[in-house]
Amino acid sequence: MEVSTIGFDRFKPLADDACESRIVAAKKALGERAVILGHHYQRADVYKHADLTGDSLRLSKLASQTDAEYIVFCGVHFMAEVADVLSKPHQKAILPDLSAGCSMADMANLAKVERAWREIGEVLDPDEKITPVTYINSAADLKAFCGEHGGIVCTSTNAREILQWSLNRREKVLFFPDQHLGRWTGYLMDIPLAEMLVWDPDEPMGGLTPQQIKMARILLWKGHCSVHQMFQAQHVLRWRQQNPTGQVISHPECNFEVCKLSDYVGSTDFIIKTIQQSAPGSRWLVGTELNLVNRLAEEMKPQGKVVQFMAPTVCMCSTMARIDPQHLAWSLENLVAGKVVNQIKVPQREAELARIALDRMLAVS
Ligand code: 13P
Ligand code: SF4
Repeated sequence: MEVSTIGFDRFKPLADDACESRIVAAKKALGERAVILGHHYQRADVYKHADLTGDSLRLSKLASQTDAEYIVFCGVHFMAEVADVLSKPHQKAILPDLSAGCSMADMANLAKVERAWREIGEVLDPDEKITPVTYINSAADLKAFCGEHGGIVCTSTNAREILQWSLNRREKVLFFPDQHLGRWTGYLMDIPLAEMLVWDPDEPMGGLTPQQIKMARILLWKGHCSVHQMFQAQHVLRWRQQNPTGQVISHPECNFEVCKLSDYVGSTDFIIKTIQQSAPGSRWLVGTELNLVNRLAEEMKPQGKVVQFMAPTVCMCSTMARIDPQHLAWSLENLVAGKVVNQIKVPQREAELARIALDRMLAVS
């Protein structure tokens, strides 16, 4: 029997609070058939419904381990794609709002990466000399490209191990789409800045000369996160003047100067754990998304720890915030009614190739 979809228009006018009890009831009705995964940047009124939370690496591992029929991803599009690629045949990955994308992931696409590969091919044989490495914040077809060309996926947690793996196999890396994570990781590996050159996909030959392509160790795709680019060196310097004993911790998507001025740089999981394990009464300046920082600041208050946000302006992952209580309630109630809405399904061949690159990452880290 064909089950019809419950329209979103019935959920749109609901107040956030009104969705709460409906989400709880739908979760109860679905029981172990559904698992809700939530990224640390998710807004509080959605995050609290997550069964499992984590950074991108942890969530991709959790997605590959769960047996639930429905993996409801409260994150962004590429995360739900990873869940689908790593899932078992009986499972379905769901993104409650399909417009929850990642602006950084959108800065690279297959046509531009293939063009870069062709252009580099005019100077050297990329399949012999270059490992393509895609940050997990990228579309599945780019992961598939890496799978097909001897490449790999990385996250902010394992970028160093992955770059080491890549440079052990071939002499150069093409790293996309986040130049900042690539540059910071290369710097930690003692690769001179002069050997990490930005590849501008909107310029012929990436804006580089054949000589520059030949001497580069890492070609850094000209991409960035619109949230993390808001954090600036001056924010750190000003805060340090006022808080001389305080500590600064940043996500590696921040620019190079911010990372260099920070005491610690790491993934969202790393940021949370480092502050949780710090001494009572300590003060922190945090360079990452606002929902995470607000949650952590509240959690740390009873221990007398002060956790402050790095930028003077609001920097939220506005695309992830599109997963609101209304969309979560809507997608769960449809599942209860037997209708799968907003399923994320990566085409089979693309999924097979993307899986190669993801499995290589999971084996390395
Ligand atoms: P993490 O893997 O550190 O959670 O980062 C994901 C992300 O999108 C940061 O902007
Ligand atoms: Fe993408 Fe930036 Fe949002 Fe992370 S914070 S999901 S990189 S837009």
